Amino acid sequence: MIMVTGANGQLASLTLHELAARDIPAVGGTRTPTEGQRFIDFDDPARLDLTGISTLVLISAGYAEDDRVITRHRTVLDAAARDGVAHVIYTSLTRAGDHLGFALAHRVTEQMIRTSGLPWTILRNGLYAELFGALLTWTPAGLESAFGDGALAAVARGDLSAAAAVVASDPPTHRGATYDLVGEPITASDVAARLGVTHRTIGLSEYRARLLADDTLLAFQPPMLASIASSIRHGLLRDTGSDLRRLLDRPLTDALGVAADIAAAMRPNGM
Ligand SMILES: NC(=O)c1ccc[n+]([C@@H]2O[C@H](COP(=O)([O-])OP(=O)(O)OC[C@H]3O[C@@H](n4cnc5c(N)ncnc54)[C@H](OP(=O)(O)O)[C@@H]3O)[C@@H](O)[C@H]2O)c1
Repeated sequence: MIMVTGANGQLASLTLHELAARDIPAVGGTRTPTEGQRFIDFDDPARLDLTGISTLVLISAGYAEDDRVITRHRTVLDAAARDGVAHVIYTSLTRAGDHLGFALAHRVTEQMIRTSGLPWTILRNGLYAELFGALLTWTPAGLESAFGDGALAAVARGDLSAAAAVVASDPPTHRGATYDLVGEPITASDVAARLGVTHRTIGLSEYRARLLADDTLLAFQPPMLASIASSIRHGLLRDTGSDLRRLLDRPLTDALGVAADIAAAMRPNGM
């Protein structure tokens, strides 16, 4: 049986849909299970039970400081080894993302997986097109961001979930593989043009000041978001690759369209 963790999250729920569409049995693991799901909370080691699971799709549980994220991932990998899981598929971060604030937790997790003794596949996911669209800000004059003219090889979340389902459907074929799953480069100006507005670039100091003034953000988020902006702005996340297209065996979803749809949905009334 396949288990996909983080089942109520967006990437995991799309992956479970992809598997269901292929008639491949899979169960969702989540902190808040409903019927047919299993309780999985990496912060609750005493209750982690992976018995009966052959393939574990370990969706990274980010959104915390490195020590917490790494402890979560170590906990679930220990449980996988203990309970006889036969293959772990981990959703990591694109190779080009090494300079991002959350890269360290992914790279340490990759090391833990490679030395765990468990058969594995690492999916190095690029940044979501949905995230790129959501990070653009509306003003009465149009869109604003700290991305400058920098491009992001953005990828639709749905394409990443389809890739996870392809690998989970046939783990032995992908044993020991690390795939770099990125899309086509898009810029903030491309998104603005698609929406018929202009894009204005702000500096990284102004961006960080705005992030620090936002009391809805957790302490680790302003440096993380500033690192995304700087990496895109300076071209580190621009390059595309062929792994995702090869795994999916179809053209990729239009990342620009996805980012534009998200930005359009966030447009306040009257702007
Ligand atoms: N590539 C990108 O652009 C990008 C962007 C944002 C995040 N990410 C990373 O990719 C992951 C998946 O993205 P997503 O879009 O699906 O994010 P999401 O919708 O926010 O889902 C994240 C899920 O992580 C699970 N989780 C959190 N804490 C956990 C814990 N202690 N134990 C077990 N599971 C836990 C939760 O699942 P349940 O609620 O079902 O327990 C949560 O719904 C994120 O967690 C993050 O690490 C990538």
